[in-house]
Amino acid sequence: MSETVIAPPVRQAPYNREAVARVIAERRHLDGPLMPVLHGVQDALGHVPSGAVGQIAQALNLSRAEVHGVITYYHHFRQEPARGPVLQVCRAESCRSVGGEALLAQARAHGSCTVEAVYCLGLCAQSPAVMLQGQPHACMTPAKLDELMAEAGDFR
Ligand code: FES
Repeated sequence: MSETVIAPPVRQAPYNREAVARVIAERRHLDGPLMPVLHGVQDALGHVPSGAVGQIAQALNLSRAEVHGVITYYHHFRQEPARGPVLQVCRAESCRSVGGEALLAQARAHGSCTVEAVYCLGLCAQSPAVMLQGQPHACMTPAKLDELMAEAGDFR
C-alpha cells in the first residue's frame, strides 16, 4: 500500500504588497508595462521580492514564468535586498581596457558595498566608470575608488 505524501506549501518571504500594487497601478497602462513595473518595484523596495512575481504576473496578465524570466535575465534586477550601499562597476570594453577589471576586484575586496558588475554606464568617454547608489563617477582610479568606498559608509 502506498502512502500519499503532500508537500508543504512553499512559503514566500513577506513583502510590501501595497507598494507593489501602487507601482502596478501607476504603470500597468504603459506600453510594455512589465519592465517599468519591475523597475518601479526595485526602486520602491530595493529589490523585486520573489513573492511579488505572482502579484505582478496576475496584474499584467502574464505567466509567473514570463515575469521570473525577465527578472533573472536582466542583471539589474535584484531578487534579494542589497547588503549595504550598491556600487556598480562597469565591465564593458572601454572601461575594461583602462583598468575596470582591477577596480572591480578592488571593490569586491573592500567589502563595504554590494558590488555589481554592469555592462556600460554610458560614460565610455570617461572610462573607467562606476555608479554608487545611482550616482555616476567617471575617470576612476584606485585611489578615487578607495575614497568613494570610504564615503559609501554614509549611505548605510
Ligand atoms: S564601457 Fe564603461 S561606461 Fe561604457
